[in-house]
Amino acid sequence: MEILLVKEVRKSFGKAEVLKGVSFSVRSGEVFGFVGPNGAGKSTTMKVIMDLIRPDSGEVLLFGRPSSDPEVRKRVGFLPEHPYFYTNVTGREFLKFLQLSLYPEGSLFWERVSYYAEKLQIDWAMDKKLSEYSKGMLQRFGLLQAVVGEPELLILDEPMSGLDPIGRRLVADLILELKERGKTVFFSTHILPDVERICDRACVIIDGRITDVVESGELQNIEEIFMERVREIGVREVL
Ligand SMILES: Nc1ncnc2c1ncn2[C@@H]1O[C@H](COP(=O)(O)OP(=O)(O)OP(=O)(O)O)[C@@H](O)[C@H]1O
Ligand SMILES: [Mg+2]
Repeated sequence: MEILLVKEVRKSFGKAEVLKGVSFSVRSGEVFGFVGPNGAGKSTTMKVIMDLIRPDSGEVLLFGRPSSDPEVRKRVGFLPEHPYFYTNVTGREFLKFLQLSLYPEGSLFWERVSYYAEKLQIDWAMDKKLSEYSKGMLQRFGLLQAVVGEPELLILDEPMSGLDPIGRRLVADLILELKERGKTVFFSTHILPDVERICDRACVIIDGRITDVVESGELQNIEEIFMERVREIGVREVL
């Protein structure tokens, strides 16, 4: 079953068309990778999926329903590209706000916080102010807030970005654990060996168009496929 369907999505910023009819789908229970050069449109696609920006045309269905449906949003955890929390609060205080706004009934919430904070090795920092977190600590905290509600679908924009080798491994293992527990994970990354190791399928986006959907049997060739497509199409000049 398709848990996420992106259909012919177009989006322009000013005169620049950034998404040129993006279509793909993610099946329930899979780990689906999203790769493409800088500026290809990955984060924009993810923001459209999360209903943070509106497409000019096309549609997104989450669990078969429009992404603007508030019921749908509760079933999705999102790690934005820049999970920077400028607030002068501690990790625990931030999560308290999250609990109050999203999971007021959740007695298991703080157990989950402990579980995932330990997994992500960020438990020792929960009473430090977020403004004092390092880049990698913020990244780990961003992941924690995305997974702590146990959503069915995770949309993670470069979850391994800024992490040390141990952190990268922890996150890869966490994604596989979530999959084992029946969750679906859609994530973007530039680390192609991670795609090969943990994804069931992946798609390639270049210059606002999906060029390939790579099936599991072909994932070991993802790097060659990627390079080949970039050679064919070229990468739009970044101004
Ligand atoms: N708010 C915006 N206003 C104008 N242009 C934008 C805006 N957001 C994104 N863009 C442009 O859209 C294009 C795609 O950006 P996007 O952030 O989706 O790329 P990406 O694939 O996530 O790249 P990266 O790998 O560097 O994260 C870029 O050319 C970018 O400059
Ligand atoms: Mg991006």
